[in-house]
Amino acid sequence: MMLQMDKQEAQQRIESLKEWLKKWNYDYFVLNKNEVSEAARDKIKRELEELEAKYPEFVTEDSPTQRVGSALSGKFAKIKHVRAKQSLSDIFDDNELEDWEERIQKLVPGDNIEYVSELKLDGLNISVIYKKGKYFKAITRGDGVHGEDVSHAVKTIKSVPLELNEIEGVSLENYPDIEVSGEVFMSKQALKDLNERGEQQFANPRNAAAGTVRQLDPQVAAERNLEMYFYTLNLLDNTTLPNPTSQLESLELMKSLGLRVNEHSKLIKDTAGVSKEIKHWEKKRDSLPYEIDGLVLKVNAFAQQKSMGSTAKAPRWAAAYKFPAEQSTTVIEDIQVQVGRTGTLTPVAYLRPTQVAGSTVARATLHNQDEIDRKDVRIGDTVIIQKAGDIIPEVVEVLKDLRTGKEKAFKMPSKCPVCGSDVIQEEGEVALRCVNPKCFAVHQQQIEHFVSRKAFDVDGLGEKVIEQLIAEKLIEDVADLFTLERDALMQLELFKDKKTDNLLSALEKAKVISLPRFLYALGIRFVGAETAELVANHLKLPTHKIVLDEAQQKDQLSLFAETPKAGEKIEVADIEELIKGLEALSLEELMDIEGIGDKVAEQIHAWIRDEDSVHLLKKLQKVGIKLTVEHQKRASNKLEGKTFVLTGTLPSMSREEAKALIKKNGGKASSSVSAQTDFLLAGGEVGSKLAKAEKLGVKVIDEAAFLKMIS
Ligand code: IVH
Repeated sequence: MMLQMDKQEAQQRIESLKEWLKKWNYDYFVLNKNEVSEAARDKIKRELEELEAKYPEFVTEDSPTQRVGSALSGKFAKIKHVRAKQSLSDIFDDNELEDWEERIQKLVPGDNIEYVSELKLDGLNISVIYKKGKYFKAITRGDGVHGEDVSHAVKTIKSVPLELNEIEGVSLENYPDIEVSGEVFMSKQALKDLNERGEQQFANPRNAAAGTVRQLDPQVAAERNLEMYFYTLNLLDNTTLPNPTSQLESLELMKSLGLRVNEHSKLIKDTAGVSKEIKHWEKKRDSLPYEIDGLVLKVNAFAQQKSMGSTAKAPRWAAAYKFPAEQSTTVIEDIQVQVGRTGTLTPVAYLRPTQVAGSTVARATLHNQDEIDRKDVRIGDTVIIQKAGDIIPEVVEVLKDLRTGKEKAFKMPSKCPVCGSDVIQEEGEVALRCVNPKCFAVHQQQIEHFVSRKAFDVDGLGEKVIEQLIAEKLIEDVADLFTLERDALMQLELFKDKKTDNLLSALEKAKVISLPRFLYALGIRFVGAETAELVANHLKLPTHKIVLDEAQQKDQLSLFAETPKAGEKIEVADIEELIKGLEALSLEELMDIEGIGDKVAEQIHAWIRDEDSVHLLKKLQKVGIKLTVEHQKRASNKLEGKTFVLTGTLPSMSREEAKALIKKNGGKASSSVSAQTDFLLAGGEVGSKLAKAEKLGVKVIDEAAFLKMIS
């Protein structure tokens, strides 16, 4: 969506977009720095392309849309590429894929086109030259014509062979000069380990890889565990080796030469298959040990590639099909304040709606006044927003170059925008809070939290329904939910027989709940699901057995909970016992629970001493809530008193599974290696934890040895 603008405004916008892009290109290609993602760059570049297409009179030769790459930093020897390096044009959706297919189909009329899809690794393109089969030089892409000599650093990469394999009976002596290029990258684990070591922080694997190949000290490069996959082969003046006729044959040949080739490359018959493949990888990308940001599509047959040729910038026969961006740019139309469950006031940016990672985003959190000041966010600003996974979209950066002067600064209010009470700022905290316990916003959200997925998990109680229940005075607090009557519910808007019955049965089921979930549901400040679990494990509440009736049978989502079946006897604790248990916990005892900080302990301690809390708990007892207490059944005591730290990828189980096994056998799992560590359970030979363990003399074991310990 483009703003309506007149010609003069368009020219101004073009100028500022160009400036911004130039700076970005310089940071990215020359300084190997990018605080701003490629996705945001793409969006700006698109806007510029669109504006330039509309107003061609404003296109200048120095526009970033008119040239490839950029200058060198001058730190390394400059080397001219044997063949100029091109870049790839981007495809962002199936429509663009279709357009691309249509365009190239015209260039080879009547031909059947097949594609090779390769993973688009998030790393850095490097060319390696082999002379007589021996490693000779490695060069960065640079500006496409000249690159930098990074032979010393690339030589340290274990997946780069120093000598090629002999094939077809041709001795290395008779090999032509070979130029191969591919992606140098860092695995997710290696990047994590590197960042944990803390010498330098890298935002993504590309930056880390770029920073590492440009290390002057090859020793440092070697320690950082770079990897490489090759994808392009160029046999120079070849008379001895077989010449491949397609990308697939080329990949095969590289493989036989001993060059590492990614195993997920695939021959695909048509663009429908390509579209399926991208969806497949979008789902599976998280399970890969390295980052990818899309697929690279290449026409398989070299003869067809040749007929299609290249534009000034990129080959026509290849394209990068990128995953939906997790970043985008848009404009802040307004800033409003929301009041949360614990009374915290949060400024929220109302955005001109934009697509991010496949969905429309219209709001982003600005966190608090400090954040607003630090980023200098103003109403009317063009900003980069980001969405990752389930996380609430946030404003990453303001593009200040695009300001017009009409932007308005924002200040948080001194009164709660919902109830009008004064707001306070607690010592040592940045957030403002409404401390009126009767504030409608706070009350409503406490209830929403109580029934949310990780708490009581009641389906059919959304924001709107809860709002109605409060407005109609059907509930005053969460305990009232469990005494709701059918007739009363039927009076509500949209409540028909089925919906009412479903809700009532969901509430009945919810009455039996695990202790950690219950503690979490209470909405005590700072008590998240993990803290709740810690407190629950610490409390030793007396229990009695009850028989679960049909209506109460339900799944429990905890690792060790055995799903109780109707008619089965289960052990439960009464809320009265919980009150006693919590009241008996001294502040010191709470603080001593491993994993619970002082601030959290103080909140819990104060909460149970508040008479409103006790009143609510008693009311919940009265409506029949029962707490299941999960006795983690120990499989053995074989690991009693032993502390484990995990690193790397284990061959047959996830780290979570391994941790669960450790606990189940009486051991402890900790996150960092120290003198207290007994064993480092390591998958693979990499990582800083391994180095530390060796230094401290901690015994390092693999999965097989671990399994033997508990068998
Ligand atoms: S082929 C003609 N294949 O993507 C261009 N590139 O946006 C030759 N990339 O600079 C590149 N995975 O760093 C190709 N399987 C793959 C790739 C790949 C990642 C990167 C590469 C290139 C950029 C282009």
